[in-house]
Amino acid sequence: MAKITLGVCSSVSLYKACEIIRGFQKEKFQVQVILTKNASRLISPLLFSALSGQKALVDPFDEEYSDEIPHVDLAKETSLLLVAPATANMIGKFASGVADDFLSTFYTASNCPVLIAPSMNEAMYLHRQTQENIQKLRAMGVRFVEPEKGYLACKDIGWGRLAAPEKIVEEGLRLIKKSESLKGKTVLVTAGPTREFLDPVRFLTNRSSGKMGYELAEEALRRGAEVILISGPTHIFPPPEAKLKKVRTAQEMEKEVVAHFGQADVVIMAAAISDFRFAETSSQKIKKEKLEKKIDVVPTEDVLQKLSSKKGAKIIVGFAAETEDVVNNALKKMKKKSLDLIVANNVLDEGIGFESDFNQVSLIFPDGKTIHTEKKSKLEISQIILDRVEDIVGG
Ligand SMILES: Cc1cc2nc3c(=O)[nH]c(=O)nc-3n(C[C@H](O)[C@H](O)[C@H](O)COP(=O)(O)O)c2cc1C
Repeated sequence: MAKITLGVCSSVSLYKACEIIRGFQKEKFQVQVILTKNASRLISPLLFSALSGQKALVDPFDEEYSDEIPHVDLAKETSLLLVAPATANMIGKFASGVADDFLSTFYTASNCPVLIAPSMNEAMYLHRQTQENIQKLRAMGVRFVEPEKGYLACKDIGWGRLAAPEKIVEEGLRLIKKSESLKGKTVLVTAGPTREFLDPVRFLTNRSSGKMGYELAEEALRRGAEVILISGPTHIFPPPEAKLKKVRTAQEMEKEVVAHFGQADVVIMAAAISDFRFAETSSQKIKKEKLEKKIDVVPTEDVLQKLSSKKGAKIIVGFAAETEDVVNNALKKMKKKSLDLIVANNVLDEGIGFESDFNQVSLIFPDGKTIHTEKKSKLEISQIILDRVEDIVGG
């Protein structure tokens, strides 16, 4: 039976966690409760042990667990970590990596989807620090069930009331389903720029930061896919679960893509591979006085073009960074390379695309159907792209 770990913090609304447990049990999930020490001062853990049929966990240093490391063992078995109600304190701990109790330690040890349902007084919820912590967690892929406006335990009326238990259960179930939506599929993602060397110290490159590709890799992992990430030089910490291949030049990128293409069900080419390289690369640093006035460049191999004949049933997604006539140029690229989807953006737009955490894109399909997104975080854009990929996978 799949297991949900339910974190319960010290908010008066914690009595609603009982209904949440029932909601998951009806769907045949086992629920393991972790109660914070402060929550156990508001209510007895025994109530949650009785309801869930599993001893509610409070203290990781309990002598009872002397022959195991409970937060690590539990993390391996959990399909979803739900925190409901979540206090401002716990959201802050998650956002800053503090791991000083059972629940926050469990969070840092777990790899499953995380859903947080905040519950607090309006002033606490709207406090800049709380909002900043929420934004930080969202950017890491943590999902939230927004609190509602209503009558609060402090007798105020305002934002901060825990969302309805049915809504929390529904969102939790949706997330668990989503975490398996690409299970059994291998997704190959390319990311970042390439470097085309003139000599050992000088190279030609572009403004790609790799953020879009890395978000796509993370999101594909969250949906249960095996991920091969072929990355040009970036400063981003790669997801440890991805099979990472680091490359520098367009030629190295091509070699790795060709080598892994056969294993992939979905290929997402988010890397900005240089279109040309220097005709000659010197093995020694070229002296200033010996530098030619004109340096010849030659085109690099078009990897997508090369692979389009071997496409078979694979789904191939391309990216088009354009500066003019974005949609038409992208359509031409799509037809030439037999793509299933092309993601186009205008890189002249301020505040999106290269080096930014945000993007605003047009998703173009072979029949010319086009979806224009708003300006969104690259995480959200990656979710939109993978939703469409799943539609194509599902026919
Ligand atoms: C009766 C009572 C109710 C509380 N309700 C909330 C609440 O709804 N939301 C919140 O963020 N903090 C609430 N607090 C404050 C937290 O309990 C406090 O920040 C605590 O340190 C959080 O500990 P925990 O996150 O480990 O449970 C409440 C405190 C008390 C005494």
